[in-house]
Amino acid sequence: MITIEVNPEISRTTSRRLAHLINIEFVIGNSAEVLPTIAKRLAGATVFWLDGHYCGPGTGADIDECPIVAEVEALKSCVNPIILIDDARCFLGPPPPPHKSEHWIGIDDLFNLLWKNFPNHVTTILDDVVVCVPKMLKPVLDEDWHSNFAERYPFSSTQSGVFPRLTNFARRVLARLGN
Ligand SMILES: C[S@@+](CC[C@H](N)C(=O)[O-])C[C@H]1O[C@@H](n2cnc3c(N)ncnc32)[C@H](O)[C@@H]1O
Repeated sequence: MITIEVNPEISRTTSRRLAHLINIEFVIGNSAEVLPTIAKRLAGATVFWLDGHYCGPGTGADIDECPIVAEVEALKSCVNPIILIDDARCFLGPPPPPHKSEHWIGIDDLFNLLWKNFPNHVTTILDDVVVCVPKMLKPVLDEDWHSNFAERYPFSSTQSGVFPRLTNFARRVLARLGN
């Protein structure tokens, strides 16, 4: 396992905490810069957990809150990468302050980026994670989707307060359109 962290202090503290695990390599750096080199030296199926973004003081905001574009581009050199992007909600709309929303891309751009670079993958969102896996793994995705559907979506839209929110949204859309 290789883990990348831009804040040296966080990396050192974590590596001390996990010193009993012998198979982790701790890399200090900006993932946008170090991931391309790391990705090129990997062979075989590799899981990428992409969760390297700003999450509070001292966690990389001054560079770029969300280096996802460079990270995804870096994985082009891998054979059949399994790509998991955490915090999908942050791409569904501009993340609220203290985030700098201009540092983030939207979910449509993220999906386009994944489709362009991995045309033989399937892409969806499971819980709060964007999942992009080789097509051969689609049966695993589908099985997870079927087994967990009721747990993920226990309420109908009328029970869960979704309908009033949607009605409100539709009213604001119509108002903006001048109706
Ligand atoms: C959301 S946290 C991830 C926490 C970790 N995955 C966990 O579950 O405990 C994001 C981490 O990514 C780091 N980070 C932010 N931007 C980064 C970048 N460009 N390159 C590498 N690490 C970055 C932050 O310093 C922070 O520690």
